[in-house]
Amino acid sequence: MAVKSILVTGGLGFIGSHTCVTLAQAGFRLAIVDNLSNAKRSVLDRIRALAQGEIDFHEADIRDRPALDRAIGRAAVDAVIHFAGLKAVGESVEKPLLYYDNNVGGTVTLMQAMAAAGVRRMVFSSSATVYGEPIRLPITEDHPLRPQSPYGQTKLIVEQMLADEARADDRFRYAALRYFNPIGAHPSGGLGEDPNGIPNNLLPFVSQVATGLRPAVRVFGQDYDTHDGTGVRDYIHVMDLAAGHLAALRFLEAANASVTVNLGTGNGYSVLDVIRAYERASGRPIPVDMSPRRPGDVASCYAAPALAAERLGWRAQFGIDEMCRDAWAWARKNSGS
Ligand code: NAD
Ligand code: WQD
Repeated sequence: MAVKSILVTGGLGFIGSHTCVTLAQAGFRLAIVDNLSNAKRSVLDRIRALAQGEIDFHEADIRDRPALDRAIGRAAVDAVIHFAGLKAVGESVEKPLLYYDNNVGGTVTLMQAMAAAGVRRMVFSSSATVYGEPIRLPITEDHPLRPQSPYGQTKLIVEQMLADEARADDRFRYAALRYFNPIGAHPSGGLGEDPNGIPNNLLPFVSQVATGLRPAVRVFGQDYDTHDGTGVRDYIHVMDLAAGHLAALRFLEAANASVTVNLGTGNGYSVLDVIRAYERASGRPIPVDMSPRRPGDVASCYAAPALAAERLGWRAQFGIDEMCRDAWAWARKNSGS
């Protein structure tokens, strides 16, 4: 079936906004649903400035069934890309019910609205966090699934809901995409990651040190069993992720199947590797503050990316230098430094 019109939940967020640009440029009509809980309305103008095309916006919560029905009905939706969700691991430990309500309850409502309207294609933002502590590397999709936080549990539950729905209705198809560590920004500098408050994740923190907003990056742990003692992750450029969603939609148009795949590069970089790459990209020194390990962190985590290449024909194109170059272009423009 040809997909022309897409409902994008969470489309004003970090990954959703970049994906909307890629999809609009590929000719899809988009209807975005976002409750602005972690996004600014001005992102819509940024998306529209980068991509021509029809982009409708509904300020609404995915738990609001009548609002979803209106958005789906008005756009004659063929497929849904479901980014909307809360994503802070620590907050999910403190407020588990908030996470189950938003991420699981919200997806139940969304899938009910889809079923009622006969929409049977979904691309879902899953996460490498469903694997929990790696028992072997690189992580293949058949690695045991043992999420360590309520946030991770919500991702696994939604994956299971999708599989159950596909078993119950053989016309329903989905792509569950397990992202590794998304970073970077649109190469134009017109769109990027803009977290509220003190960033939890490494890259936005490094950007804020480079722009002078914070004095130093705290490097959490120097005694891991890695090449330089600091934690190793599979960072992936957000534009590569956006391309991965386009590839997943094409797969759902053509194949008579669903798919669950890693979206990573397969390369692991340490905290210090990333900081050095950012120094090269920005030409600015990034002071570091060697700090204790952060509870819950693992030494290394990186993907086996072969299944996504085989099933979706997708491979990451960008390396760590391009990720830091684009993150810096955005940070610099956004901060005026
Ligand atoms: P983000 O917070 O920037 O984007 C999520 C968007 O969803 C935000 O714009 C927010 O306002 C919206 N939203 C949240 N709850 C909503 C609700 N109930 N109704 C409507 N809108 C709602 O996050 P992101 O980094 O772009 O992540 C997108 C998705 O990818 C999330 O589901 C996240 O769990 C998943 N993911 C992210 C990462 C990462 O490191 N960024 C890694 C793996 C998976
Ligand atoms: C990366 C590395 C830190 C901050 C998280 C979620 C995961 C997924 C992606 C959603 C680690 C180190 C960090 C800092 C540091 N999200 N670090 N100083 O923890 O791999 O993954 O985001 O699904 O579920 O857990 O990402 O960017 O927080 O950390 O030294 O100020 O940087 O210890 O080694 P993480 P991160």
